[in-house]
Amino acid sequence: MEWDHDRFRNVIFSYFLLCLARWGFWKLKGRGVVGSLADLYRGAMRTAYGYILRTPGDHGKIQRQVQESLAKMSTKLAAHNLPRHVKLPEQALSAEIVLGELDGLAKMDHTRWEEGYVSGAVYHGEDALLQLQTQAYGKFTVSNPLHPDVFPGVRKMEAEIVTMVLNMFDAPSDAVGVTTAGGTESILMACLSARRRGHAERGITAPEMIIPSSAHAAFRKAGDYFNIMVHTVACPGPSFQVDVRAMSRLINSNTVLLAGSAPNFPHGVIDDIEAISRLAVRKNLCLHVDCCLGSFLMPYLGKAGFKTQLFDFNLHGVTSISCDTHKYGFAPKGNSTLLYRSAKLRTYQYYVCPDWSGGVYASPSIAGSRPGALIAGCWATLMSVGQDGYLDSCVRIVGTAKSIESAIRTGPVLSSELEILGEPLVSVVAFSARNLNIYDIADNMAAKGWHLNALQDPPAINIAVTVPVSKVWERLITDLEQTINEERDKEKKRLESGETAKGKAAGDAAALYGTAGSLPNKGVVVDLATGFLDLLYQA
Ligand SMILES: *Cc1c(COP(=O)(O)O)cnc(C)c1O
Ligand SMILES: *[C@@H]1O[C@H](CO)[C@@H](O)[C@H](O)[C@H]1NC(C)=O
Repeated sequence: MEWDHDRFRNVIFSYFLLCLARWGFWKLKGRGVVGSLADLYRGAMRTAYGYILRTPGDHGKIQRQVQESLAKMSTKLAAHNLPRHVKLPEQALSAEIVLGELDGLAKMDHTRWEEGYVSGAVYHGEDALLQLQTQAYGKFTVSNPLHPDVFPGVRKMEAEIVTMVLNMFDAPSDAVGVTTAGGTESILMACLSARRRGHAERGITAPEMIIPSSAHAAFRKAGDYFNIMVHTVACPGPSFQVDVRAMSRLINSNTVLLAGSAPNFPHGVIDDIEAISRLAVRKNLCLHVDCCLGSFLMPYLGKAGFKTQLFDFNLHGVTSISCDTHKYGFAPKGNSTLLYRSAKLRTYQYYVCPDWSGGVYASPSIAGSRPGALIAGCWATLMSVGQDGYLDSCVRIVGTAKSIESAIRTGPVLSSELEILGEPLVSVVAFSARNLNIYDIADNMAAKGWHLNALQDPPAINIAVTVPVSKVWERLITDLEQTINEERDKEKKRLESGETAKGKAAGDAAALYGTAGSLPNKGVVVDLATGFLDLLYQA
């Protein structure tokens, strides 16, 4: 057969058309005609706006605003009168001096988590537990689970932590798990395992995953790091659960992973894991349930007498679950667990290098050396709180979340302005505002000392109840009422004076999510956030 030029060109062209048709087919199947057009429109707007942002005039102005905001943040971060250290001390300092400096650092002016002013972040923080954790660290300061022969006690504790958590989640007898440095690493590993499984068992080279838009950012990070295309699925009100039918439409031959949250971070809502599980079984896909936040509350909801939902290995489609020991497990920060239905799935996350000149190298997750001290802190926490302790804390924390929810739903001031998003079954309560700007409410609460979380899409704020918050939730409600009255007054005055919404002075949250956040191209937000990360390393 003779291969002339034309025929060759035709083959290439047909292949190109075939790829395009295939892409078009999956796109239309996944997002429908309207959805695909909307995606196309958004993409075009983003690109066009990107160009506008880069035009000399606008670019200069916007960059100046970004720099101004960053300068403001920098002053805020540097607002202290402690000595600055940029070189190693020339001569060794005495322990006394070092401890003195540490005292100063610990006491720096900060948002008062100790008095319950912070949403999430510090989940327990009581003295007795902190002291036990510090003692546990002290006994294992130099230990490293990379050397199980040198530190056998650490290996034993780590294995026991995984097994205790597996038990809590009703795992089948052949289920296994690992510990990681946090929820993000657990999610990264679950995505990596699904990716490698897809490659090994189905030959997938361009993997895709389908996640609720409300799922934790760690999934998108995994997509970025491991080159997995991420499809986000809308979680429409009033339930704010992921739309499982839309999820189903997005499945194609490259799909390796589905995900659901129990509960999600923004709204504290548990997705319909039962329905997602049925889908995963039918299509033979991995399903990761993100129980990082639900951690030690989810398994106790039913026992504590609260309404609950199926979410764990009792659902056959669930192949992995992440559970943060460092959230409602109350372990020290830097600790999470990841559970797999089978040992094979866990093997897919391992890294083994058989031919390194440094010797055969094998490690279970991202880190090489790891701090055994944290494992000791985690183990000591689990043992000292115990089943009765976690049941008690579930009653207290979820009970507080219910009290906050009902105060917002029924209180005269609050119910007239605020609206709860979805049905919060666990510890997070999210709400939006009917008439006022919710970010102004967040900024006003911040001025009163509260650190609540600002959400977007839709604009809202949430609070994750912790042990410290559970002691002061009534003050939260009073401050919220006062805030709403104040903001209403301000709004009235503004309208009377004929001032426009555009001209009004905006607080931090309002500035970030109001103007910058509403642009079709988020380049400005990316610049701001990148600059902020740089600031963190400014000594
Ligand atoms: C906290 C959280 C995670 C993981 O976050 P880390 O900060 O890495 O521990 C994942 N998912 C949800 C829903 C979370 O709230
Ligand atoms: C605790 O943290 C360390 C380091 O962050 C990690 O290596 C270890 O696996 C974690 N252990 C548990 C039980 O979460």
